[in-house]
Amino acid sequence: MKAVTTTDVKELKPLYKGKVRDIYQVDENTLLMIATDRISAFDVVFNEGIPEKGVVLTRVSNKWFGMIDWISNHLISTNPSEELPFLRGYPGLNERSVLVKRLKRLDVECVARGYLFGSAWKEYQKTGKVCGIELPPNMKQAEPLPEPIFTPATKAESGHDENITAEQCIEILGDEDLFNKIKTETLKIYQMAHDLLREKGIILSDTKFEFGLDEKGELYLIDEVLTPDSSRFWDASQYQVGTSPPNYDKQFIRDYLETLDWDKTPPPPPLPEEVINKTIERYKAIERIILQL
Ligand SMILES: Nc1ncnc2c1ncn2[C@@H]1O[C@H](COP(=O)(O)OP(=O)(O)OP(=O)(O)O)[C@@H](O)[C@H]1O
Ligand SMILES: [Mg+2]
Repeated sequence: MKAVTTTDVKELKPLYKGKVRDIYQVDENTLLMIATDRISAFDVVFNEGIPEKGVVLTRVSNKWFGMIDWISNHLISTNPSEELPFLRGYPGLNERSVLVKRLKRLDVECVARGYLFGSAWKEYQKTGKVCGIELPPNMKQAEPLPEPIFTPATKAESGHDENITAEQCIEILGDEDLFNKIKTETLKIYQMAHDLLREKGIILSDTKFEFGLDEKGELYLIDEVLTPDSSRFWDASQYQVGTSPPNYDKQFIRDYLETLDWDKTPPPPPLPEEVINKTIERYKAIERIILQL
């Protein structure tokens, strides 16, 4: 199957092209959000897509949105061609698209971590802290944290997202109550998903959420939720402290890229077919587990 890396919906006004999603305006309050098969690592988008990745991400997010029923979410329809019949003229688009409520996005990435990995591990090695949170000494890579922590990051317009402290996050939001709310929600969703997945032999190391506000100031969960693009899923049976655990996420691509002599700035190196195939295999494996929860 060919990867869908670009979209061109002639009937709608294109609003935004993210690293992965193409967003079109349906009306003033409604967006069509299409998950393409584009993949990014280290914030660089690759030329090759991962065939069907966008479909997998869409199904996974929709499943979680249905399970996280205590907070409002942006979904209006998971079958947009009902409202927009012209979408049927674009093969493969409907299953990777959702209609969503257009919200005022909070400009922070809301990350929950239960384990010391990735940028948190890097920061800890330098400072002993993560996002201003003091951690016990002598922790190892991938070690469970004493308790899950909220580690917000900036949403950089260009360049890399950067971890920030609670104080910096409150400053960006301009509202301490809002900070407390998104922190509480982030940790609550993480814990729920972590516990459910743990029973299925999966460790949810960390995950990122985005939130938005409506005109009345009500908080909504938006974007994508608990997908292999936004989360680290480890195989519990092979997990070992001090290592990069076998995973069902983008780590496979990152690990491959680390073997190259590439400075992680554009242009991206080509992705070999084997890396593409292994990646979609892993995404589909975690999808099967999540859809059965
Ligand atoms: N309901 C919503 N209302 C407004 N914006 C949304 C909504 N849901 C998601 N978004 C935004 O749509 C974009 C989705 O595209 P994508 O995931 O490709 O972006 P990205 O590359 O992660 O980049 P960035 O989030 O930094 O712009 C994100 O910018 C996200 O914040
Ligand atoms: Mg995104």
